[in-house]
Amino acid sequence: MNTQRFVTEPVRRRRTAAGLAAVAMVAAASLASMIQTGCAALRYTPQEAQVAPEAYTVTGDSLSVTVALARVPELAAVGGAATIIDERLSRHLLITRPGTDEYVVVSSHCTHFGRALSYEHDKRRFRCSSLSHSEFGLDGAVLGGPAEGPIMVYRTTVENDTLCVDLTACAAPGAACPCPRGAADAPSEIP
Ligand code: FES
Repeated sequence: MNTQRFVTEPVRRRRTAAGLAAVAMVAAASLASMIQTGCAALRYTPQEAQVAPEAYTVTGDSLSVTVALARVPELAAVGGAATIIDERLSRHLLITRPGTDEYVVVSSHCTHFGRALSYEHDKRRFRCSSLSHSEFGLDGAVLGGPAEGPIMVYRTTVENDTLCVDLTACAAPGAACPCPRGAADAPSEIP
């Protein structure tokens, strides 16, 4: 006997809706997995120009960095940004200038899978260059995306046109920033 004709229209519609929901769930799971895998598979690629080696000095057993601002054209205007990638440092740095006398220096690794961050001055935020595009505020806090932890925001001072970055302290103690631990923050693998 053919049971097909006994399936009523509402039942058929329910089955179709359930089927579509299942397909949507599988597609969403695949997309999430693809994004996750994509972030993991991509390499760290700097998004901003690199500060010339002669424009900065790594001091104090790699615990601080001084930058001669006059020698970094990318930071000459408000909104500028530049990176420092140096094997003596445990992390790549992203130096930004959100305001005339305001410099914000962060670890330029997204806390999702370590991919490079770029600075978006119009939105005053950092954005991951990888597939999932996690976003972070100038205080390091996560604003969006899959990243769960804040990025490091280092303490800075400016004196005589020299920017000093203290890699042993965060800009706002007690804030979201996971403060580095000085010498104990040993160089780790940089993705
Ligand atoms: S590495 Fe995946 S969002 Fe940044």
